[in-house]
Amino acid sequence: MIKVGLLGCGTVGGGVIQLLRANAAYIAARVGAPIDVARVLVRDPAKERVAELDRARLTTDPEAVLGDASLDVIVEVMGGVDPARAHLTRAIEAGKQIVTANKMLLALHGSELLERSQKRGVDLAFEGAVGGGIPVIRVLRDALASDTIAGLAGIVNGTSNYILTRMRQDGLSFEAALAEAQQKGYAEADPSLDVDGGDAAHKLVVLAMLAFGARLDGVSVATEGIRGVSPIDHAFAERFGYLVKHLAIAKHRAAGLELRVHPALVAKDSPLANINGVLNAISIEGRALGPCLLSGRGAGDLPTAVSVVADLVDVAIAKKGGVAGLATRAIRLAPAILAPMGDVEARYYFRFSVYDRPGVLARITGALGERGVSIEQLVQQGRGTTDVPVDVVMLTHEAKESAVQAALTAIGASDDVAKPPRMIRVH
Ligand code: NAP
Ligand code: HSE
Repeated sequence: MIKVGLLGCGTVGGGVIQLLRANAAYIAARVGAPIDVARVLVRDPAKERVAELDRARLTTDPEAVLGDASLDVIVEVMGGVDPARAHLTRAIEAGKQIVTANKMLLALHGSELLERSQKRGVDLAFEGAVGGGIPVIRVLRDALASDTIAGLAGIVNGTSNYILTRMRQDGLSFEAALAEAQQKGYAEADPSLDVDGGDAAHKLVVLAMLAFGARLDGVSVATEGIRGVSPIDHAFAERFGYLVKHLAIAKHRAAGLELRVHPALVAKDSPLANINGVLNAISIEGRALGPCLLSGRGAGDLPTAVSVVADLVDVAIAKKGGVAGLATRAIRLAPAILAPMGDVEARYYFRFSVYDRPGVLARITGALGERGVSIEQLVQQGRGTTDVPVDVVMLTHEAKESAVQAALTAIGASDDVAKPPRMIRVH
C-alpha cells in the first residue's frame, strides 16, 4: 500500500480523488500496490466534495497529515506560497516523496525546494504545474535530455485563452467569459493571476528552469495580461491576417535569458493560432530536434489530475523500487541572468486613438521614424474630427523594444491622441 497525504481538495484535488477511484485497479497494477489517500487537508470540512471522497479522512489540522509517519507521498494541491512552502519543506525533510501542481510556489521557491529534495534523496514532481494535462515537464526533463533548447513559446494559461476565444468567436464580454472560466474550474482562486499574466509568468519560470537549467527563484518576468485586449484589436488583427493570443516566451540569448509574457499577434495559419478555448500549447525549439509542439487541455479538474496522478504513480514506483530521488537528482540548476526587455526585437501592432487634425499622422510616424521604428502597414478606420477621435492602426517592421517604448511615451504625451496608445507585439 502506498499511503498519500493530500494537501487541498478543491478542483484539482477533487479530480485526483476521482481519477484514483476510476482507475484504481489499473494504477495499482502499474505501481505494484494500491494507492490509498489516507489524509486530506482542507480549510472547510463542511464544504461539498466529490462523491468518491471518504469524508472521515478530511482534516483541518496540518499536523494530522504532516505528522503522520505512515504516509509515503504528500500531494500538494492547495495553492499559494504560505503555508504550502512550509508544509512541503517539512515533508521533504521527513523523507516523503512530493507531488505538487503549485506553479506559484515553484516559480518563487522551486530551485530551493528542488535542491532540498536532492539533498534529502526524495523526488519533487510537478507535471501538473504547467499545461494542465500536457506532459511538458517530462518532455523537457527526460525526453529532450540529449538536446539543448534554443527557446520556447506557448499558450500556458487556459483561462486567458478561453476568454480571448469566447470574446473573439462568440462576442462575449470579458466579464462573462471570465465567469464561465471560473465556473468550469479553470481560473485560479484569485483570477487576476490568470488575466493579468502572473500565472503564465510563473509557468514560464518553471519551463525555463527545466529548459535552460536555470536557477530562477523569484525573478521578475516582463508580464502583461489580457485586460487591455479589446474586440477592436481582435478585428484589426484579423484584418492583418493574425489572431490575438496570450503567449509566454523564453529564448536563450547571448545576453541572457529573454523571458516575457504578453498578448501577441500570431499569424492565422500558425499552429498556436489554432489553439482555442481551454487548450494550451507549448512550442519548443530544440537545437538538434528542431520544432516540437505539445498541446492539450491546460486547466480543469480531470486534465490536471491526469498529470498529478501520473506523478504520483512515478514517485510511488520510485519509492517501492528503492530509487526515490533519482529523477529529481537529474535536474541541474545554475545561476542565470535575464536579458533586458529593452533589447527585445519584434514587429509591433499599434492602435492610436487620434484626433483627425492636419499633420497628425506625420507627427506620429515622425516620432516613430526618429527612433528607427518603420511602418509596414497603416489603416484608418472611419473618419474622426478635431474633437472626436478615430482609430489608426499600424504594423511595424522589426524594431527594438526600447525605441518603441520611447516613441509610444512621446506620442502618448501629445495632444494628438485621446488616450494612451495600445501596443501588441507580433510573434
Ligand atoms: P481550489 O479549488 O481553490 O482548491 C484549493 C484546496 O486547498 C481547497 O480544498 C482548500 O480547502 C484547500 N486549502 C487552501 N488553502 C488551505 C489552507 N491554508 N489550509 C488547508 N487547506 C487549504 O484550487 P485548485 O484549482 O484545485 O488549485 C490547486 C493548485 O493547483 C493551485 O496551486 C493551482 O494553481 C494549481 N493548478 C490548478 C489547475 C486548475 O485547473 N484549477 C490546474 C493546474 C494547477 P477548502 O476546499 O476547504 O476551501
Ligand atoms: N488557472 C490556470 C489556467 C490553471 O487557467 O491555466 C491551470 O494551471
